[in-house]
Amino acid sequence: MQNGFDEFPDHDDDDVPIDRPMASTIGALIERRLARRELLRGLAGAAVGAAALGAGIGRGEAAGASSLGFKEIPHALDPNMAVAEGYDAQVLLAWGDPILKRALAFNHKILSAAAQVTQFGYNCDFIGFLPLPRGLGTSSGASDHGLLCVNHEYTNWELMAPGLTAKRDVWQKTTRRQAAIEMAAHGHSVVEIGRKGGGRWAYVAGGNRNRRITAQTRMAISGPAAGDDRLRTSADRSGRKVIGTMNNCAGGVTPWGTVLIAEENFHYYFAGDPRQSANYAREKASYRRYGIRGRAYYGWHKFHKRFNVEAEPNEANRFGWMVEIDPYDPASTPVKRTALGRMKHEGADMVVAPDGRLVAYMGDDQTFEYIYKYVSAGRVAGTDPAANARLLDDGTLYAARLEADGTLEWRPLVYGQGPLTPVNRFRTQADVLIETRRAADLMGATPMDRPEEVEVNRATGRVYAALTKNSRRGRRKPVDAANPRARNRHGHIIEIIAPGSGAQTDHAATKARWEIFLLAGDPRDENVGAKYHPGVSREGWFANPDNFGFDAKGRMWIGSDQGPDQPRNKIADGVYATDTAGPGRALTRCFFTAPVGAELCSPTFTPDNRTLFVSVQHPAEGSGFDAPLTRWPDFKDGAPPRPAVVTITKKDGGVIGG
Ligand code: FEO
Ligand code: CA
Ligand code: CA
Ligand code: CA
Repeated sequence: MQNGFDEFPDHDDDDVPIDRPMASTIGALIERRLARRELLRGLAGAAVGAAALGAGIGRGEAAGASSLGFKEIPHALDPNMAVAEGYDAQVLLAWGDPILKRALAFNHKILSAAAQVTQFGYNCDFIGFLPLPRGLGTSSGASDHGLLCVNHEYTNWELMAPGLTAKRDVWQKTTRRQAAIEMAAHGHSVVEIGRKGGGRWAYVAGGNRNRRITAQTRMAISGPAAGDDRLRTSADRSGRKVIGTMNNCAGGVTPWGTVLIAEENFHYYFAGDPRQSANYAREKASYRRYGIRGRAYYGWHKFHKRFNVEAEPNEANRFGWMVEIDPYDPASTPVKRTALGRMKHEGADMVVAPDGRLVAYMGDDQTFEYIYKYVSAGRVAGTDPAANARLLDDGTLYAARLEADGTLEWRPLVYGQGPLTPVNRFRTQADVLIETRRAADLMGATPMDRPEEVEVNRATGRVYAALTKNSRRGRRKPVDAANPRARNRHGHIIEIIAPGSGAQTDHAATKARWEIFLLAGDPRDENVGAKYHPGVSREGWFANPDNFGFDAKGRMWIGSDQGPDQPRNKIADGVYATDTAGPGRALTRCFFTAPVGAELCSPTFTPDNRTLFVSVQHPAEGSGFDAPLTRWPDFKDGAPPRPAVVTITKKDGGVIGG
């Protein structure tokens, strides 16, 4: 999330750390070790000699080392999107597209909540492709017909409608009508899509399973924190029922064909002075650790008192979870799964360990927050959601500690173990989960440079964590081996290597190794300290890794999000692709660029790898309705830009990337 209006600086506070004592590091020693590590190990996979290191930087001389068979495109900022030659990029679903039965057509001049709740929402992020019919599985089966499950993370009212001149107006001037439209534009869409004979993708308007989930949808709470006192409100004495989900960023697909969607910056929606809340004594540490501090960025609290912590002190505890949705059953109730912890969830990538247990890798997206994983107690049993219902309620949550010697330890967040006891105000496992961050602090997890997506490369079993940026490292908190740059404006990617390989990788193990995969930024600028394969071209470098897609050959397709730094870097966010092993390792190449102001989210392949879906989120962000940076994708006079899901296919029908 970014913000183009300087008048409201706090809107970017995922870049601002929550102040607290942090796990110790041994700075200088680690820095020396790192330099050696990168040369000998991190970049060794690129199989380039020492002579090539440096000599070829920025000249694209080693481009032939890449297995990716597309010609790179310029990564300059542009009002339009662009994709490599020989490929088509087409808008499939854009904000306002009518998707439900009896949906109202989009008309930007007469926005209404009644229309929006039948239409595709704003700021698409997570994309899950679930083949139809159900039961084909998510890694094989149909690649031309399915359900597209898409998150709608947040809204940019300043781009949706006229009348705002500064971001702070968003909540100060929010009207009841605006709040209702915003709430209806958040959440999630399930939309049936298909293509015939390898032709153009289209969505099925009014499809039987099409569904909108919004900030007003009723859902359930399950797992160890469900029913806890701290989740009870005046509207829900049970602590098991909640209205709505929001700030749904990335997500994941379960092996049984449901989706998990993340609740990320939930604190943006909560107003009221925490010190005036009836539960302040009990919730003080939690409010503080999650950034609930009396300033909301949306004005919903003016019309819904549950978003005011003075009126409803526990409501904020009911957000910040992963939410499971069964897209095949439009009547199903979404469920917030508390066993996966409460944080500013980026997403959850799920994989089955060799012993059958489910493992979910997750990031907590804020400066100096942690990488997590969840391991189920039981084993995955087929693709029936009912048979797997307990897996996301009963398991162990771990936070990652990355040591300078290249080892990684997953430390369990379990009530009664170590410091997670009443001495530290944890009385039950519910407390540990509601205050996941504080539990991870006490367990000595490693503060990272803003963890975004953590995803498994199924072809190799290796896991990649996008650390998007941290311009604050180096002041109060020094660099360490896993976060090696002070003022890390451009972000980096870490590779986690669990025991075993491929399908036999033991993702449930509590020990792993880690490497730096790349350090992003412009490799020609010595001050940046970027590290890639030396053959990265002038167009192939990027900044701020956010999301990944991996193809069947194990190649990494990175979605980038520079946020407010996009004008400074003067490059587009887009899809930058690289091999993860062999001579083309860490040789990123520019495949797709999003229009100016947009971030690129959630590159997602169909099982046959012949279609790549991407979300173009917040085109024109940083500007306003009257003079947007772009009017993509419609380019009609007076019409606002529209966030959209784009399909990328090869003109000859082949596999993406060759
Ligand atoms: Fe919503 Fe962390 O990006
Ligand atoms: Ca993201
Ligand atoms: Ca992904
Ligand atoms: Ca981001």
